[in-house]
Amino acid sequence: MHYESKFMDWHTKAWVKKPEKQYFPARLFPAADHPLVLARGEQVRRALLVKRLYGYASFTALLESDLVNPVTLLISAGRLPVAFPAAMRQDADLILIDETTHAAESNKLIAEVELLTGVRSTPFTPEPMAKYARLIDAQTPELRGLCQLACGIVSETLISSTLSGIPSDPATKAMVQEYAREHGRDEARHHAFFSQVLQHSWPQLTAAQKETVSLVAPRFMTAFLSPDVPSISNDLLSLGFTAEQTAQIVAEKVTTPETMAGIRTSVQKSIGYFAALGALELPGVREAFEDEGLL
Ligand SMILES: [Fe+2]
Ligand SMILES: [Fe+2]
Repeated sequence: MHYESKFMDWHTKAWVKKPEKQYFPARLFPAADHPLVLARGEQVRRALLVKRLYGYASFTALLESDLVNPVTLLISAGRLPVAFPAAMRQDADLILIDETTHAAESNKLIAEVELLTGVRSTPFTPEPMAKYARLIDAQTPELRGLCQLACGIVSETLISSTLSGIPSDPATKAMVQEYAREHGRDEARHHAFFSQVLQHSWPQLTAAQKETVSLVAPRFMTAFLSPDVPSISNDLLSLGFTAEQTAQIVAEKVTTPETMAGIRTSVQKSIGYFAALGALELPGVREAFEDEGLL
């Protein structure tokens, strides 16, 4: 009897031959494919990607609770020197609910992945949040709220390559994809909201206020999007890489010209909103964007 084998493509298509899905896309974190990491074997590479997920999710949780929600509350409660339509303030209340959910889901994901993988997360203040706090603290009390608003508008209107890249990455675990997909859907609404917040606020600002917020925006963009070197270094050190190896991996795979190019791409939309209002024509503003390498 003739036998027809259906196993001609077994070596490439069988389940057992497929690489195990990861908790964070390696293509969004090239350090995972550094030769020094690969030399330590799959278990260490996997743990490094898990730790990157923890870093990303804990940054997200803190961003929502310490930056976006305080700004949204300023809008909702009418605590800024600008007026917003009542319907906009009501939508701000819905964003407070969304962002609280995003923070809770981020913390829940960390707890679930800890249980599944046995890889522990270590509490660490994300550097972008520390930089944001310093940037706001340096402002006078009268301008602080508007600078918070400018940073909120930037963070809510930039296109995060991580948030948009995870759901479409076939090598990432479904639970992480779903987390990023649901968050991304909510954020599309927030993006539209905050671009309109900028349009409503701008005509109500004095020339001096416009200048201050336009100078804060580029500094925040790089602070917010630059890779969190202390956190990534901490992850590498905790996995047994030496200080020299850690510095080498960071220099060759984290703080690279490609990283800066990615930051520029992410912020083009946000810059466009400010540019459309004439912000780049204000004294020193175009130079400030250029100094940060964003134009
Ligand atoms: Fe969010
Ligand atoms: Fe948001």
